[in-house]
Amino acid sequence: MISTKLKEVHSDIRGELYHMALEMERNGERVLKLNTGNPAKFGFKMPESIKGIITGNLDMSTPYCDIKGMTHSREAIKEYHSLKGIEGITTDDVFITNGVSEASHLIISALCSEGDEFLMPSPCYSLWVNMVRLAGGKAVFYDCDEKQEWMPEIESIKNKITNKTKAILIINPNNPTGTVYGNDVLQKIYALAKEKNLIILSDEIYDRLVYNNLPFTSTASIGNDVLTVTFNGLSKSHSVCGLRSGWLVLSGPEDKKKELRSALVTVASIRLCSNALMQLAIPVALKDSAYTDGMINENGRLYIQQKALCAELEKTEGITFVRNKASFYVFPKIDLVKYDFESDRDFSNKLLCEKKILVVPGSGFYANDNSHFRIVGLPEENDLRNAVKSMGELLLKYRK
Ligand SMILES: Cc1ncc(COP(=O)(O)O)c(C=O)c1O
Repeated sequence: MISTKLKEVHSDIRGELYHMALEMERNGERVLKLNTGNPAKFGFKMPESIKGIITGNLDMSTPYCDIKGMTHSREAIKEYHSLKGIEGITTDDVFITNGVSEASHLIISALCSEGDEFLMPSPCYSLWVNMVRLAGGKAVFYDCDEKQEWMPEIESIKNKITNKTKAILIINPNNPTGTVYGNDVLQKIYALAKEKNLIILSDEIYDRLVYNNLPFTSTASIGNDVLTVTFNGLSKSHSVCGLRSGWLVLSGPEDKKKELRSALVTVASIRLCSNALMQLAIPVALKDSAYTDGMINENGRLYIQQKALCAELEKTEGITFVRNKASFYVFPKIDLVKYDFESDRDFSNKLLCEKKILVVPGSGFYANDNSHFRIVGLPEENDLRNAVKSMGELLLKYRK
């Protein structure tokens, strides 16, 4: 009865362990759920600027609107990405969607024929892998090197390219590693895409959550000769995950953009339009950088929490990790030689059952060695410190 395409589709962020955690909660237990990057769940309030717009314009948002989104909102998105250095984009190149999740659905539906291959980072946020598999395509993973701060390995990308490869996905800043890719790495990927005539998909949803003023390069700003699709949205930067607000922007050679634009209109018209209320908020939100900056500057809640999380992880025996440069995720590695856990899943399962803390095993992100987990640095500083201390206690108990 069920589509065979679903066989390989899974989302461990809300997978088996998550359902176990919900069951524990139904039985009256308290579980600290560190599985989703959902700021509002941890008390981050949306900016007043967005609240004002959406509460004041309910009546304006009830009709269906343009398939691609409201013109003035697309104009604001175009401005935002032009300021990031992307050349030659017009409002026509912008499609507003119900989150990056829907943008991913639209683009993969528009591009993927049966058997097409999409290169994806390992580790990778599962949305992209699932979308490709649902569309009948194949997710092919390229390695990112933990010893090089999780940067993509160019040789690995090269080696994975076949005559079926359609696109290279870049997630920058990355989920789950929190890495920000250097301009040099992006240049190399861009050159490879140009040489092999591949499309670049660049998910940049965390571009506003980069710490310590580290420079951020938007992939599409590198040139104008590779068809590039840039993805972004307000979920994380403005703590509005539940309101579903995202978009995609096409850039590159005009003839290729034209072909993809037309395919995207076909796909986007199936779902009529995206949430109109949130479209009204986009111009205001993109001007309200003070809100996001206030979370990531040295006194900001996100900054302080990431610092505390990393400081506590550093003290924890049995764990090694690369400090996150952006976002609110850290992707630590457990020493499976010295500690009696069979795998990342075994560790995460024991952490949930014995310490009532839910994390996501690294294999849920297609990491290739089953010894990592992702932790979300969104709870208040003390809760985070206590959570890592509990992990330390668990590790001590299972020391061989
Ligand atoms: C890298 C990445 N892309 C896309 C998404 C989906 O975001 P949205 O809420 O815009 O659908 C997430 C959410 O966690 C993410 O981490």
